[in-house]
Amino acid sequence: MASSPKPWNREKEPFAELISAEAIATRVAELGAKITEDYKDKEDVVVIGVLKGSVIFLADLARHIALPIELEFIGISSYGDATVSSGIVQITQDVSKPIEGKHVIVVEDIVDTGHTVSYLLENLKTRRPASIALASLLHKPDRQARDVKIDYLGFTIPNKFVVGYGLDVAQQYRNLPYIGYVTGA
Ligand code: IMP
Repeated sequence: MASSPKPWNREKEPFAELISAEAIATRVAELGAKITEDYKDKEDVVVIGVLKGSVIFLADLARHIALPIELEFIGISSYGDATVSSGIVQITQDVSKPIEGKHVIVVEDIVDTGHTVSYLLENLKTRRPASIALASLLHKPDRQARDVKIDYLGFTIPNKFVVGYGLDVAQQYRNLPYIGYVTGA
């Protein structure tokens, strides 16, 4: 019998909870059900997780998609100051197979300025998939600089730097079971 993750020692964490593990689980199940409904008549569905931030979201979401899907991963690096997305993006690790003719669902952790995912979607579209959709756990509309259509969105959040459930601060805390914002405490 699976148990829920144990709470961390919250007094020592420099985070305040923004979205609980329970709220995330409920929303991820809803998104998976919606994707299942939307793709039930489609073949060749490929879900592409954007490394590393989407990994935990993808692992949970994929188990709520009740269809045969392929999983792929793509690695992206964004140049410039880590907190200010420059829009200059490079693919550091590509998918393992061509996506031509396939129904692609790109899974992201967060759409902040939108530069990263805009670049990625434009790049993937040139490979002639049958369709392409975007799922993102989080969206920070206050910071959005590029027009990005999110087909499956988990939560809209305020303009705070968030961590946990895949998102990092200096590569740490991706394994926090909830989404927190950095308080600096
Ligand atoms: P964008 O190009 O500005 O949309 O940035 C997207 C990427 O920046 C995300 O995939 C994250 O890796 C990172 N990012 C943006 N905001 C946050 C945050 O609040 N916490 C952690 N990572 C973030």
